[in-house]
Amino acid sequence: MTIIVHDDAEALSQAAALWLAEQARATKERFAVSLAGGSTPRRMYELLASVERFPWDRVHWFFGDERFVPQDSPDSNAGMARETVFSKIPVAPENIHPVAFAKSPEIAAQNYERALKAWYGAEKLDPQRPLFDVVLLGLGDDGHTASLFPGTTALMEQTHWVTTVVGATPQPRITLTLPVLESSRAVAFLVSGAGKREALRRVWRGDDLPAARLRPRGELVWFVDRAADPRTG
Ligand code: 6PG
Repeated sequence: MTIIVHDDAEALSQAAALWLAEQARATKERFAVSLAGGSTPRRMYELLASVERFPWDRVHWFFGDERFVPQDSPDSNAGMARETVFSKIPVAPENIHPVAFAKSPEIAAQNYERALKAWYGAEKLDPQRPLFDVVLLGLGDDGHTASLFPGTTALMEQTHWVTTVVGATPQPRITLTLPVLESSRAVAFLVSGAGKREALRRVWRGDDLPAARLRPRGELVWFVDRAADPRTG
């Protein structure tokens, strides 16, 4: 586990954007990224659009979770990604893999699981062959990550790649499950602001919070700013 502390949210966002570019440039293969939702990664996504020599042609974009809303909703994570980065650079539509809105959250989850398995080319995850190259995640002040909230059955899911969360938030959520988020060469958390300090303290000391349960196959990196760092002040 690597912890990188930045002065503020802007510095954190710049560092995370450059880090992702380095990861993507380090290979010549297709490169799969699972994007975080919420507000913290917005600035990183905006900065990505101006990163030099970013291999846009090889990178495919997936979503760690989504709110069960149409993509043009202000609450849509796919909508946020389009607004902050994909509308600003010539990325091929087939490189973007949003959670498609459907008749029900369950159908949306089933469809997304099918899409992930088609991308991966197998029905079962192979520990030696991670699904993602990079998974980006945020941290809720209750210790949730993606849409894996404390006390939800989604947190226990070990078979399905994608599941639903109903009742934990105003809109139903579709979320990748722990085994899928762990199937990555690198997982990076972006955590900013004093409001996250207590959650971060508890996750780092190993309290049984969703974000603390994540055991990535590969590298684990924490991009945090001074305000969120529980070790200072
Ligand atoms: C979402 C996210 C969620 C988010 C945390 C932190 O869709 O909301 O995936 O897990 O990362 O809630 O949200 P903020 O970055 O807005 O604090």
